[in-house]
Amino acid sequence: MNSLLEISCQARGYFITIEGPDGAGKTTQLGPIADWIERRGFTVLQTREPGGTQLGESLREILLHSDSDTIEAEAELLLIFAARAQHLRQKILPALKQGVWVLSDRFTDASYAYQGGGRGLGADRVRILETWLQGNFRPDLTLLLDIPITVSAQRTRSRGQLDRFEQDTVHLRQAIRDAYLQQACAYPERIKRIDASGSPAQVQYAIADSLQAFCQRLGR
Ligand code: TYD
Repeated sequence: MNSLLEISCQARGYFITIEGPDGAGKTTQLGPIADWIERRGFTVLQTREPGGTQLGESLREILLHSDSDTIEAEAELLLIFAARAQHLRQKILPALKQGVWVLSDRFTDASYAYQGGGRGLGADRVRILETWLQGNFRPDLTLLLDIPITVSAQRTRSRGQLDRFEQDTVHLRQAIRDAYLQQACAYPERIKRIDASGSPAQVQYAIADSLQAFCQRLGR
């Protein structure tokens, strides 16, 4: 666990996460964000959760597409943290230690939103696992793409085949969004809420502003 604390004191890469309800448009924005960072002269590793490692990708397949059995909410949360443990130890921390910036499509804020809020497990249980696995380690910057639930429902429906999480009801979607916004309120320095209801180009501009402000804070 010490290694987590050590790296925050060393010269290292930065850990940026992108979050938001299904249909918020994260996938469209990942490439432009990576390009933005690379243009500043840094190396970027793009990754995602659940997933990012061999075991993590196998767990992702179970979590998103399993239809053979009902996955209990507690089991879902623990499987996601199992994937996260692999991801953190094998991929994220080694890259940061080498000075690489890591850009992850989702991280622990998604567990607060989907399992804590959506599945009703509550933030406290997520926090226990977060503290146990991560100690004080948190993303340096989180871009939260926020959209009203009606828009997220429309966008995911228009994609066709839905995964287990995308089949959520209106009530669940609201709980997920509320939990995300609660996280953003609790950690305003780290989590930047971006209005993602506009066009991809508008969202890209808003993200670039947040990245610019982040780099200025770092003195980069
Ligand atoms: P997502 O990131 O939306 O990928 P895609 O664009 O391929 O659908 O899918 C991952 C799903 O996993 C998403 O619906 C949310 C869910 N998830 C959780 O429920 N909890 C978590 O902690 C994480 C990381 C993801």
